[in-house]
Amino acid sequence: MIPPDFIDEVLARTDIVEIIDPRVSLKKKGQNYTGLCPFHNEKTPSFSVSQDKQFYYCFGCQASGSALKFLMEFDRMEFPVAVEYLASRVGMEVPQARSVDSEASRKRKGLYEILEQCADYFREQLKHHPGKEKAVSYLKGRGLTGEIARDFGLGYAPAGWDNLLKKFATTNHDRQLLIDAGMITVGDKDDKVYDRFRERIMYPIRDLRGRTIAFGGRVLSDDAKPKYLNSPETPVFHKGRELYGLHEARKRVRKLSRLLVVEGYMDVVALAQHGIGYSVATLGTATSTEHIERMFRLGPQVVFCFDGDQAGRNAAWKALRATLPAMADGKSARFLFLPDGEDPDTMVRRVGQSAFEEQIDASLGLTEFMFRHLEEGLDTGTPEGKAALAQEASPLIREIPEGVFKQLVISELAEKTGLPEARLLEATGLAAPPPSVPRDPPAPDGAYGGGYPEDDYNDYPPDEMGGYDDYAAQPQKPAISAGVAKLLDHAISVLLHQPEVAIALEDDEVSAVRQSHEWQLLAEMIEWARSNTVISPVVLLSHYQDTGYFSYLRQLAERELLLSPADLAEEFRGTVIKLLKEGDLQLKQEVINGLLSKPLAELTPEEREMLVAHTRSRA
Ligand code: UTP
Ligand code: MN
Repeated sequence: MIPPDFIDEVLARTDIVEIIDPRVSLKKKGQNYTGLCPFHNEKTPSFSVSQDKQFYYCFGCQASGSALKFLMEFDRMEFPVAVEYLASRVGMEVPQARSVDSEASRKRKGLYEILEQCADYFREQLKHHPGKEKAVSYLKGRGLTGEIARDFGLGYAPAGWDNLLKKFATTNHDRQLLIDAGMITVGDKDDKVYDRFRERIMYPIRDLRGRTIAFGGRVLSDDAKPKYLNSPETPVFHKGRELYGLHEARKRVRKLSRLLVVEGYMDVVALAQHGIGYSVATLGTATSTEHIERMFRLGPQVVFCFDGDQAGRNAAWKALRATLPAMADGKSARFLFLPDGEDPDTMVRRVGQSAFEEQIDASLGLTEFMFRHLEEGLDTGTPEGKAALAQEASPLIREIPEGVFKQLVISELAEKTGLPEARLLEATGLAAPPPSVPRDPPAPDGAYGGGYPEDDYNDYPPDEMGGYDDYAAQPQKPAISAGVAKLLDHAISVLLHQPEVAIALEDDEVSAVRQSHEWQLLAEMIEWARSNTVISPVVLLSHYQDTGYFSYLRQLAERELLLSPADLAEEFRGTVIKLLKEGDLQLKQEVINGLLSKPLAELTPEEREMLVAHTRSRA
């Protein structure tokens, strides 16, 4: 990372006028320099550069910032490149990228290493163990070639309680590492430890980068139980976001245009064996919005594959609900239902690649499936049925992000109900925009967004204040209390110092953060940090270099944290948990206030109960 102090030092030694003048011709006017704004078309100069404040500002288009920002905007330099450019001008050298070697990251490195060694060990056993025949013939019996077994890194955990223990747990430290990696288990009663996976086919679960992060193990004979055993959650393995086969799909298919979501490990491997290399499986959990967003980052289409039975239909409906919030324009989701008694593995073996892919192409579109499901049991030929349809569809439609797709779904509902769209929107409340924070800088009063350049300009002489009114019109401050705003600032600041702390959060905590409309920035940053692409603070920060959040975030990145790097992960999680609690309290209080303002007679029994419970808890 580039230390914020270093950036400050570079900026302190830089004269912004020297940077801008060669690119925009400037004239001295009073205290400042002015010229034609390079960021919008104009005939009279409204672009102003303050040498005192080392800041540029356009009264016409509100572009503003430091020399660094100017280079990024005008020369389209990446953040690190712009820093480098400025540094070399003043004879400074950017400090070498320093890896964030916190306690937590050292620990995770240890886990990745031991897991890779285990994967190697299992593969080795599949080749050379005296009992390997059973495993090899099992895999052959399922129609897999050696090549596909190699691509998926399949292995064999032989029988025995202490194979891994004997091989890898030579020191206490390594033994603990194996426990933390989920590879050996501590007995309930005694403290005896033993290998978790015994006499099983081993499927390594890899992250997007290909690092082994967990295993699934399948028994060799169908009567042994449980059929599949999976690694527990560990610091490197979170079931709610990982997908089996994602790394392999990305390697097999150069340009992923679609991903097929199936249920089982063997389905993924068998599909690949038959030329369908783009399938992934959730790991024994329901498909989450986080899963879907990850997939949409890799390709525009997700096809869910389910059993045709009732359980499959229920699971498909759940998947649809999880998909709606991720349906940005350009994304598509489809639903494929298999005949009873088949799974993708048996199906593809029976019909082959092209017939299977024809079925994928003929699968139900998201809206088709949605309306079909909603219309079940309704007589949509009657006004009652139409009204019920509109009532059930509107909360679902509300989940879809604003855009063309959402409009089309609304049009379809209008057609089905026979209501003109405007009337439908009015009647269902779909017209009201959802409560959300504008994607602009927050209000400049310290908490949750201080220090926007307004301060730097409020001492401008009146004759230079043209267009100032516009600029002063700040977006509305989100309705959050000062306490919550402080917590938010702190959480974001810790995250910017050490993005990997985001991994410390549990999945349900991540989704709880996402559910609050006011915390989308934090939620998005957590998401970035948890995706495998962000490794350093600078990279995280530079995701925002073109947004209104940049100066706010930079400030938080520069905040001094009086904590040792090793404590940051815990601090971060603690802050987020506090935030969730506070947010919850605030929401409850709003609900209670709403109830208190209603006449008692109008309250439903549930609402009365809530009020009573609330007064009791206060007493
Ligand atoms: P299935 O029972 O449908 O098995 O489990 P399958 O994938 O068809 O397996 P094969 O074909 O018999 O080998 C689907 C998925 O549910 C999880 C696994 O992720 C499995 O791939 N599962 C199933 C478990 O985690 N534990 C179990 O005991 C069974
Ligand atoms: Mn199967």
